[in-house]
Amino acid sequence: MTDRGLSAWLQPLPLPDGQTLPGRLLPGPMEGISEGSFLDVMTARSLVLTWHTPFLRISTGVPRRARLAAWLAPYLATGRPVIAQIMGTDSARLAAAARRLHDAGAIAVDLNCACPSPTVVGNQAGGYRLRDPDWIARTLDAMRQTCGARAISVKIRCGFESPAELPAIAAALRRAAPDLVFCHFRTVREMYRPVADGLERLRHLRDLLPDTPLFGAGDLFTVEDALRMGETTGVDGVTPARGLIRNPGLLREIAAALGGPAFTPLTSEDKISFLHDLSERSGLPVRKRGFVIHVARAMGVDFSLPDCHRM
Ligand SMILES: Cc1cc2nc3c(=O)[nH]c(=O)nc-3n(C[C@H](O)[C@H](O)[C@H](O)COP(=O)(O)O)c2cc1C
Repeated sequence: MTDRGLSAWLQPLPLPDGQTLPGRLLPGPMEGISEGSFLDVMTARSLVLTWHTPFLRISTGVPRRARLAAWLAPYLATGRPVIAQIMGTDSARLAAAARRLHDAGAIAVDLNCACPSPTVVGNQAGGYRLRDPDWIARTLDAMRQTCGARAISVKIRCGFESPAELPAIAAALRRAAPDLVFCHFRTVREMYRPVADGLERLRHLRDLLPDTPLFGAGDLFTVEDALRMGETTGVDGVTPARGLIRNPGLLREIAAALGGPAFTPLTSEDKISFLHDLSERSGLPVRKRGFVIHVARAMGVDFSLPDCHRM
């Protein structure tokens, strides 16, 4: 397969403080999935080059340094650069937490303005913040004040009610100038429903933010999905999430299609071995290992016995 002009996705991405992300193919953060043994098993198989944590709620106060370090520790233990994600409503607390997370070893701190969970939105956090683009700009400004040259980023959706909100959101981002922007093409209201014009929305955002490293998300399940997003929208990288549960080798397959290291797609045996390690390393009692079944179902692993063992 030719790289179709997207080979820059394999290049390191320099950050303003002199650090670099090793590439522009990143795992989308997933609360309840990109944690614990999933980190170990993916890292041990070299299926991920950078980790992006799920959100940490910053609510009643700024967590102590020791607590933030403990939260970040499993990600840092992978030896990969870690983008730490925070969520909340109080700009000053978020900014203070961002600084502490940088001090604890995060390569970038990401502000979640995307989560559509009714509980989160009900608390006016996550995707709810898209209703107030000025708040996003103020919070990123506050994070810039505390973090200096260390990288800050924001995760958004293409609007709260409607993608017509995108120009106002982008204007706020141009003012605040985060170092990276991650965007899932749905609106908050759309939750995970199918949308027909997701790539056009990302293309629009690309036009509105021509100078900001922009990472696209949304329905990236195959190599072709990723290449199509790149070609149609001009994003600087992609962040598949659910596709990584179905196929943990997806980022490596995309990289190989762009001329990166050769990679043989995972076989059923590889997937079963992956699930075995996920379960063994989870540290959870067997009865609590339901998430492994969840991952197995998403992978479509066939647990039926090989022909020779069928009765
Ligand atoms: C189980 C699950 C948990 C998620 N948790 C987070 C999160 O903590 N932070 C975040 O920014 N996005 C989160 N997301 C959103 C994904 O990172 C991604 O943007 C979204 O699922 C669209 O990409 P996809 O279609 O490739 O899954 C989550 C998604 C799923 C499915």
